[in-house]
Order: sequence, then structure tokens, then C-alpha cells
Amino acid sequence: MFAFIPSPFVLLLAALVLHGCDLSAPVEVTKAEPGPIPASAQDPGDPQAGYDALVNRTAVTCGLPYRAYAASTGNPKPEYPLPGRRGRNAELPYSVTSFTADSGVELVTSNCLGCHAAPLNGELVIGLGNEFLDFTADPVMRMEAAGAYLEGAAETAEWRRWVERLSAIAPWSMTDTVGANPAIAVTLALMAHRDPKTLAWSDQPLIEPPSTRIAPVSVPPWWNMAKKHALFYNGEGRGNHARYMLLASTICTDSIAEAREIEAWIKDLRAYLSRLRAPAYPYRIDPQLAALGQELFESECNTCHGRYGAQPHYPNRLIALAEVGTDPMLAEMAYNDGERFVRWFNTSFYGGGRSLQQPALGYVAPPLDGIWATAPYLHNGSVPTLAALLDGEARPTRWRFDGDHPDYDQTALGWNYRRLQQGRRQYASLEEQKWVYDSTRPGFSNQGHDYGNLLSDDERGALLEYLKTL
Ligand code: HEC
Ligand code: HEC
Repeated sequence: MFAFIPSPFVLLLAALVLHGCDLSAPVEVTKAEPGPIPASAQDPGDPQAGYDALVNRTAVTCGLPYRAYAASTGNPKPEYPLPGRRGRNAELPYSVTSFTADSGVELVTSNCLGCHAAPLNGELVIGLGNEFLDFTADPVMRMEAAGAYLEGAAETAEWRRWVERLSAIAPWSMTDTVGANPAIAVTLALMAHRDPKTLAWSDQPLIEPPSTRIAPVSVPPWWNMAKKHALFYNGEGRGNHARYMLLASTICTDSIAEAREIEAWIKDLRAYLSRLRAPAYPYRIDPQLAALGQELFESECNTCHGRYGAQPHYPNRLIALAEVGTDPMLAEMAYNDGERFVRWFNTSFYGGGRSLQQPALGYVAPPLDGIWATAPYLHNGSVPTLAALLDGEARPTRWRFDGDHPDYDQTALGWNYRRLQQGRRQYASLEEQKWVYDSTRPGFSNQGHDYGNLLSDDERGALLEYLKTL
């Protein structure tokens, strides 16, 4: 005879049934269902102060001593003007920021714009994700080499701290394909090294680090922040958005007091982001064709992506994987293998009772404002143009950008690319391999989102014309 020994899980379930599932009580691990995403209150902030913070402050409070930065990089001049940059920052490229640490040493570190700004027609567009970033090189080796230019104990101590932090997350900060962004994996790896209650750093991970199989992600544009109720592709960023933005500082924020200092201005930055609007399509648009396209859009697409124009409406819907059919790896990893990180966040200062991370088995149908500018498409950047997104048969299995700053293709709507005949590994050098987007690899698939497949070529042409107007 077996004695009936209730497992802790059964007890928990019984407790929930007895007491009812009260979602206002602190919940450590939460998951969401597909469907509409509710709005949540955001802290007010000053958008102008937010812009100033974006270009002059940094959420990352350790970095490379300026002397070593200047000597090891050749101190490049800014390629694009970034209005409002002050002091040393006015002399630096837009993607890095200088500041003076408590030790008195001037440090340089990358900022949000390294990933969240990109050149478009010769101008830098704040909020446009940079899809050409190369995270294939080992960041630690470069920083170690820069150590040759240090002077004095204070600089050496700052440099050592930076190299140690980068080394702890190195396996999660590298991808093997240009454009694949490691930000999610890095954030999870950093959580593993911190006590959620105090944010104190531990050289040894305190929970099991994330898998080093990194799902490729494309960088979403910031100008949709005003419309989106939840952040991130799988909609897991529910509640207070600023608290998630703060997570971008976790490499060096070692205490609650430091996190609060950054929180004080990151609210302003959130307010600034919610004022950003998409850039207008700069080339010719055929208004009659676009009007036809609008009719099609309103019958085929707007239940998920919303209405645009005079009376815009965005429904904030999370679509189940089974319905949208795009690569499941990113959503599945967060849902099935992410509980310890959800618990970490929800019980940490960042969750703070204001934000509740809720992964779901699906993806948000994003607003399509400025969609012409944000190629390649889908959360994993697997489809190089809008024409290919609307026509499953036109999607290349293997492709690469035509150069590292390719021209814009006004017919297919995206950056020029080349179809490739062979897989990644058949290229001789890593230098060639890293440019190959190979959609046969796990996480890289270009499957799903078949909503354009049944349309005729003429209908797809009209729809593309309309998408230029958003
Ligand atoms: C290393 C590149 C990188 C850096 C640096 C970076 N981000 Fe991001 N960011 C990403 C990626 C990739 C995503 C998409 C993650 C996802 O959706 O799961 C993202 C998502 C976001 C989102 C959510 C957008 C949306 O529509 O869901 C916000 C807001 C954001 N980042 C703000 C910031 C801020 C503020 C900073 C600087 C403090 C910053 N990021 C630094 C790569 C970066
Ligand atoms: C059932 C809901 C649904 C319908 C209908 C739908 N979409 Fe989508 N769409 C999605 C979801 C969900 C995503 C995100 C998928 C992902 O990233 O894996 C998406 C992504 C996209 C993207 C890429 C966004 C980006 O930033 O990469 C475009 C463009 C798009 N859809 C256009 C359309 C058009 C045009 C139609 C009509 C022909 C349409 N969609 C119909 C749900 C839908």
C-alpha cells in the first residue's frame, strides 16, 4: 500500500483553491495567457530631463578609464551630432558616455544608444534599433588589452572591476551572427550574480545561470513605447516600465541606494521615450495604391496590429505561438526555463511590488509605426524585408546583408541583402560565417506569420504601399 504523501506542489494547489487565487497578494512566479494586455500606471517624468539624461548620463556605473579608452580606440571623433551633449561627452561617439566615478577616475562606458539608435539616410535616429551590431568578438580580450594604458592604482582598480564583471558574463554576451543581440541573456546572467533583496554582487552565481544557447533577438524601436502596455517581445514586462529599463544597469549597480539614484532619472527617460515618434518614409508613396492597401490592412491585419491615421487604436494583443507560428525558442525559454529569473525579478527591488514579470507562450503583435525602417523583421530578425514577410515563399532560407551599411531597397522595403546557397559552416572563415543568417538553426527560423500568403501579388503590392505610410 502506498501512503498518500502530498507533495509541496499539491499543498500549494490546495492552498490556492482554499483561499482563492488572489493576484493582489505577492506572487513570485507568474505567467500570462495570450489575449489583451491590460494597461498599468506609469510614473510621471520630465521628457526634456529624460533626453538630457539619455545623452549625458549612464546607467552603467563602472567602465574603462578614459585614458585607456582613448589610447586603445584611437579616440574616434563623433560621427553623428547628438544635440545637448556636454563636456567630454560632446567629443565622444554617440554610443559611449563618460562620467567620473566616486574614486575620482573618469570612466567611459557604452550607453543605451549603442543598441537603441542607428543611422538612417545619413542621420542618427534615436530609438531605431541597431541591427548591424557585431557581438561576435570577445569583449574581455579588448578590455584586457586596454589595460596596457592604465596609470596609477585608482585607474587599475576601476579597470579590474570592469574586466571582472565582463568576464562573469562573457559566455552570454557573445553571439555568432551579426545583428543577433545578446541583451536578454546578459540580463539573466547578471541576475544570477546578485542577491535580489540587496542587489549585492556575488562572484559565484547564486542561482543557475541561463543557458548559453542564446536565442537571437532584434532590437525593437523605442517609438512604440507610448502604445505598448507591456515591454518585450513576449510581453513579459508588465507593470511599471521604468523598473525594467533600470535592469539595463545591473552590471554595476551593487546596492539599493545606487539603484534608487538611477531610478530617479530613468523615470524621466521613460517619459522621453514615450514621446518619440516614428520617422516618416522619405521616398515616394503612391496615394491611390496605399488607399487600396489600407482597405486590405483593415480586413486582414488590424485586429492584431490596430488602426492608424486620424483615429488610431492599438489593441495590445499577445498572440499564442500556435496561432502566429513564428520561431518559438525565445518565448519557450522564458516560459519553461525562466522561473528562477521571474522569481528573482518579482521579489527584487526591480519588481518592487510595482512590476510583475509574466512570460507567456506567445508574442505581442507590435504596433507597425515606422515599420519600413526596422528591418529585418520578426522578433529574431529572420525576415530581411517586408515583401518577404508578406510572402512565405519569398523568404530566403540563408541570407546576408549586402555590406555592413547596405542601401535601402524601396521595392521590397528593407536593407539590401543577398540570398546564400550554403549553410554557415560551409564558409571557410569565422569572418564570413558571422554574416550568414541561417534560418535552419534553432531560434533563427523564419517560419510562421502566414497572414500575407493567401494574397495576390497585386494585393501584397498595395499592402506594402500602405505600410510605408505608417
Ligand atoms: C546590448 C544592447 C542593448 C542595450 C545597451 C540596451 N538595450 Fe534596451 N533592449 C535591447 C533588446 C535586444 C531589447 C529587446 C528585448 C525583448 O524584447 O525581449 C531591448 C528592449 C528594451 C525596451 C523595451 C522595448 C519594447 O518595445 O518592448 C526598452 C524600454 C529598453 N530596451 C530600454 C533600454 C534603456 C533605457 C537602455 C539603457 C539604460 C537600454 N535599453 C540598453 C538591447 C539593448
Ligand atoms: C493573429 C494576429 C496577427 C495578424 C492577423 C497579423 N499579424 Fe502581423 N504580427 C503578429 C505577431 C504576434 C507578430 C510578432 C511575431 C514575432 O515577432 O515573432 C507580428 C509581426 C508583424 C510584423 C513584423 C514586426 C516587426 O517589428 O518585426 C509585421 C510587419 C506584420 N506583423 C504585419 C502584418 C500584416 C501586414 C498583416 C496582415 C496581412 C498582419 N501582420 C497580420 C500578429 C498578427
